[in-house]
This record gives sequence, C-alpha cells and structure tokens, in this order.
Amino acid sequence: MKPKIYITRKLPDLVVEKMREVCEVKMWDKEEEPVPREILEKEIQDVEGLYCLLTERIDQPLLNLGTRLKIVSNMAVGYNNIDVAAATEKGIKVTNTPGVLTETTADLTFALLMATARRLVESSDYLRAGKWQTWSPMQLTGQDIYGATLGIFGLGRIGEAVVKRARGFDMKIYYHNRSRKLNAEEELGIEYVDKNRLLRESDFVCVLTPYTTETRNYIGAAELSLMKPTAVLINTARGGIVDEEALYQALKNGELWGAGLDVYEEEPVRTDHPLLSLPNVVALPHIGSASKNTRLKMALLAAENLLDGLRGEIPKNLVN
Ligand code: GLV
Ligand code: GLV
Repeated sequence: MKPKIYITRKLPDLVVEKMREVCEVKMWDKEEEPVPREILEKEIQDVEGLYCLLTERIDQPLLNLGTRLKIVSNMAVGYNNIDVAAATEKGIKVTNTPGVLTETTADLTFALLMATARRLVESSDYLRAGKWQTWSPMQLTGQDIYGATLGIFGLGRIGEAVVKRARGFDMKIYYHNRSRKLNAEEELGIEYVDKNRLLRESDFVCVLTPYTTETRNYIGAAELSLMKPTAVLINTARGGIVDEEALYQALKNGELWGAGLDVYEEEPVRTDHPLLSLPNVVALPHIGSASKNTRLKMALLAAENLLDGLRGEIPKNLVN
C-alpha cells in the first residue's frame, strides 16, 4: 500500500506528480490561502508524511495528533515554524531546503540593500505621483553603497553569498557569528568583530541568522542605539530577530537612517503596521527566495526529502 501524505498548499503539477508516483496524496488545493488549522488537524491524523510551508505552525499539539507521522518536510530553509524538539521526541524526522535558495536570497538581500540606500521605491512613487517638478541638488539623496562598511550577523551560506556581492562594491566587510569561520575570513577577506563593534562601525547591517530562542529580538533598542544615524538595517531572515517596536522608534526619531525588510514578526504584515507608515522603510512581502527556478527547486527538494524519509532512508536535509 502506498503511504499517505498531506501537502498543505497547492504545488506545481510537476512536483505533485513526483510524489503521486509513490504516495497517496491529499493536498490543500488553494495557492493563495493557507490550510485552515482545523483541516490540518484532521488531515495529519491520517498520514505518514506532511509536506508544509512556513505558513503552518507545526507545534506539539498538532504533532500529537499525527500518530502515524514519520516525516515533516518544510519547503523553506528556515524551520522556526516547527517544534523540532517535539518532533524529535516522537521520532518524527524534520527536513528543510537549504542550498538551493542561497544565491537567490543573497540577490534579494543585496537588491533590498540598494533599494533602501538609494530610496528606489520612494523615488519611483515620487515620479508617479507627479511630484517631480525639477532636478534639484539634494532631491531624493541617499547613502553610498560603493566603498561603505557592511556588517553581517549570521555567516551561513546566504551570508557568504552576500559577501561575494558586496566585494564587487568594494565594501569593507565585518561579520559576527556564533562561531568564527577562519577559512571564510581568509577566502573572502572579511573580519570577525564583536556584536557591538559591528553595530557601531557598519553603514549597512544585514541580519541573516536563523530564528531561534537565542536570536529572538537579537536587534533591540540597545543594539539600534549603537548604530550610526546614517546606517541602514536589512532583514531578510525572520521578523522576530529584530524588535519591531524598537526599530520603529529608531527610524522615526532619526537614530537610524533606513530599513529594508522582507520579513515581519507576524506575516502577512498588516498594512496599518507602524513601520509601513515610514518613508524610510522599504517593505517586501517575504520574497527572498522568490525566483521561478529557485522556488521550483525548493519544492522538488522538499518532495525528495519527504520521499526519502518515507522510504526509511536518511533524507539529505534532515535537521533532527
Ligand atoms: C524562507 O524564508 C525560507 O526560510 O526558505
Ligand atoms: C542558509 O542557507 C544559510 O545557511 O544561510
């Protein structure tokens, strides 16, 4: 008998077909709407494999219902939406999709950095709103990127890929990480500094750490107060790593020059969120890995991990 699986969002046919060959597949059939919790609670009781997105909270009460569950495959590199400890305790495998989205997410991180520094969104809106009456010396002026100092929190795959882009802009690059990476320091010409020095000396600070209990509000009021008033903060990791209320105050009071955000504490972010009222915030709807090729690769990799787990093999991207 084929193992039963549940997929929490409508995926491209190509990806679903791969799983149908060996599984009995049920799938939430909407693309733009997450599966309601009560449906997920029901479906999980019946399956050995769960294919989910970062929009689903896979917590202990839910896992308790999955009495036949062998594997939860997350179509994302981040897996803070899953209670991994609870899964481990029940012998349920958890997998993610690292690697395939590294370059695409680094591209977006750098794009957001540039858009924020040079006020691209605000400038485009200015033109479209008919406010462009003349060229003037200090109109819509921003911050230089070329030759500036970049500080990266979290030198994982994506962090290293951002460094490569920054080197093309002759940036001076600092990083801070749980562990030092001596090879990367030598190969990429970057310098390890402590958290406070990174904050004090960087013109751009990129947040690229995983979201865990240790990194919750990792950037709060105290950290923001160390940053230069001309500095820009970029977050393409997870919203909860930056204290949004503190960030709002710092940006509003001119303690920080700008912020580029792709992620929020609560997603989708509400359009009346205070941060969205500020002109010096460039806000994107969590599109870090959103290229056509990369999203397809992530979807296929998550399928592969799921199938490996169901066959009793060790999936390539096991996290527990
Ligand atoms: C997206 O944010 C991911 O974790 O893949
Ligand atoms: C994610 O792939 C990371 O390690 O940065």
